[in-house]
Amino acid sequence: MLIKRIDATRLDDCLELAVSRDWTPDARIWNLMFEIGVVFGIDDPGGGLAGCVVSTRYGTRLSAIGMMLVAEKFGRQGLGTRLMEHAIADAGTESTWLTATRFGKPLYEKLGFRSVGTCTRYAGDLRLTPAGASRPASTEDIPAIAELDAAVFGAPREHVLRALPAVADQVRVIEGTDGVRGYGVAWRNVDNTAIGPLVADDVRTAQDLIADLAAGSDQPSRFHLADTHSELREWLESHGAEQVFDTTEMVHGASHPGDRERLFLPLALATG
Ligand SMILES: CC(C)(COP(=O)(O)OP(=O)(O)OC[C@H]1O[C@@H](n2cnc3c(N)ncnc32)[C@H](O)[C@@H]1OP(=O)(O)O)[C@@H](O)C(=O)NCCC(=O)NCCS
Repeated sequence: MLIKRIDATRLDDCLELAVSRDWTPDARIWNLMFEIGVVFGIDDPGGGLAGCVVSTRYGTRLSAIGMMLVAEKFGRQGLGTRLMEHAIADAGTESTWLTATRFGKPLYEKLGFRSVGTCTRYAGDLRLTPAGASRPASTEDIPAIAELDAAVFGAPREHVLRALPAVADQVRVIEGTDGVRGYGVAWRNVDNTAIGPLVADDVRTAQDLIADLAAGSDQPSRFHLADTHSELREWLESHGAEQVFDTTEMVHGASHPGDRERLFLPLALATG
């Protein structure tokens, strides 16, 4: 059962595999993955996919791995381990980052990933008054956003930022006297609006961005928050955010770069 790169013509197979493992079939995130990442798959000889994984590369410094799925009937035969080893080797970056559910964590530990923190998925109808501190971003803002983002994320992801306006519903920025102080993105999923990535100079700026992004959506919000952001976490919980599940952030190779204090929300669990 060979591992090969697959393209967006296999979207339906990815969605089918995701549904078979009780994941929400979110075509938008998969389409984005095909655009910004490398999707590897193993064909099920009976049709569809036996397994898949996605690697997103940020230069030579960092890659993120996610969307790791193996069909139940092919479980415990080493496919997950092979897919993960393949994705790490193909990216060839100094560090590889991922967030693990409790199902994937033992497998990643065996491959040398180490835990560096925890992250909680939140969802809820946020009871927030718009701050009115941000404005919609245009493509002209992308270079300034990318500059801030590179300093905070610690690896270049302008290719991801350039792909976002086409899939996102809102990209907003807050400016200070020295330029962009923060940016945030919101996009519709199947039954909620995902907020992230969100990068900001401080907690107040992050709060203002979240309030404005949530106000611009008629759906409940959803996001992933590292447990180190205790002030933002308490503020969001007091405004209607409810914990859904926890994941463990893990790193393989060199420590992950960047300024995690200003990296408030990831784009998605699969991408960082
Ligand atoms: C997590 C997941 C990807 C693992 O895939 P997998 O193909 O079963 O993984 P592997 O077969 O490589 O390894 C799983 C276990 O089988 C064992 N194994 C591997 N080959 C084996 C074989 N030939 N015979 C018996 N056991 C074997 C491994 O040692 C490992 O053991 P452990 O559970 O004690 O750690 C899969 O269960 C899945 O898709 N789950 C749902 C989605 C999910 O949670 N994804 C991960 C998100 S972080």
